[in-house]
Amino acid sequence: MQCETYLVTGALGCIGAWVLKHLVERNAKAIAADLNTDPVRPRLIMDDGQIGQVDWQVLDITDTEAVKALVAEAGVTRIIHLAGLQIPFCKANPPLGAAVNVVGTVNMFEAALASGMSSLAYASSLAALGPSSAYDSWPVGDDAAPDPRTLYGVYKVANEQTASVYAADSGVGSVGLRPCVVYGVGRDQGVTADFAKAILAAVAGMPFHIRSGGIIPMQHASDVARMFIGCADADMDEARVCNMRNDVISVPDFVERLTTVFPDARITYNVDEEFPFPADLGDEGLKEILGDVPHTPLEDAILQDAAMYRDLLDRDQIDLEQLKQ
Ligand SMILES: NC(=O)c1ccc[n+]([C@@H]2O[C@H](COP(=O)([O-])OP(=O)(O)OC[C@H]3O[C@@H](n4cnc5c(N)ncnc54)[C@H](O)[C@@H]3O)[C@@H](O)[C@H]2O)c1
Repeated sequence: MQCETYLVTGALGCIGAWVLKHLVERNAKAIAADLNTDPVRPRLIMDDGQIGQVDWQVLDITDTEAVKALVAEAGVTRIIHLAGLQIPFCKANPPLGAAVNVVGTVNMFEAALASGMSSLAYASSLAALGPSSAYDSWPVGDDAAPDPRTLYGVYKVANEQTASVYAADSGVGSVGLRPCVVYGVGRDQGVTADFAKAILAAVAGMPFHIRSGGIIPMQHASDVARMFIGCADADMDEARVCNMRNDVISVPDFVERLTTVFPDARITYNVDEEFPFPADLGDEGLKEILGDVPHTPLEDAILQDAAMYRDLLDRDQIDLEQLKQ
């Protein structure tokens, strides 16, 4: 793996931080690209030595020439494209959302093409799909018709279709992964961050309200990172889009499991709110590419996260402001 050079966009985000951690642990060369170089989230999960092994770069992915120049000049061989604006940000500023999420992704394909790369991995989203009521075949497979109900979801579908055209016209293959409810240390923004925050609140002894109910598909950020690396390493000659699955669980069940570990936890949830996407997702496509899909059992992941949050709280290294809603 040492001969590969990975470009991770959106590297200061939650998933990006975990991708960097795994790349550094594999002794791989990692270029972290984001709007700044202050590794606030990576510092939550990486030590100083690991932080020092990463090449931190400022990159605005909407800047076509800058993206192409970084990929070419740094000798990038693998792209893990994660940079994006989440649902609330796209809703608040649709033109910026389209520029970052759509144009930014086109730029990554242009850079891969210009540098002669065979394929890349990028983040799509469960939000490319519609509500459960839009589907009548279960589990919902990778080939189920997209039916986005948010601008963010529309932009992600545009990315998936962009990827198909690059594969057909230019031979740049890809895997677009559709994370669902990603939880883990570093997950602190977006509505589905409530599950990671609930674990933090339980450790900190603070009350917390999860704004969702119903049944949710959850993936641990560390597992998601390993999925992205595996898909970036796969030399694809086509454009694939892959659902993720891992833990499919009701919100009350999640809270009960958390309460088993932290009997004094004061976590509530929204009983009236159904999760707005299907939870019963098929991940056969991902299994086909990766073989084994990384999956830390929920109970183990809660314990791991709790230990990391405890350590961060003891060292005063995590901001509890994020628990205010
Ligand atoms: N976390 C989830 O549950 C989830 C679910 C579905 C899809 N996804 C997708 O996975 C990807 C990563 O998710 P995350 O949770 O790590 O997101 P995040 O919001 O934590 O991080 C996104 C990063 O992108 C960066 N970014 C924004 N605009 C940029 C620009 N113009 N140029 C360069 N960087 C820019 C931000 O600074 C941020 O560090 C995103 O594309 C997201 O849409 C995440």
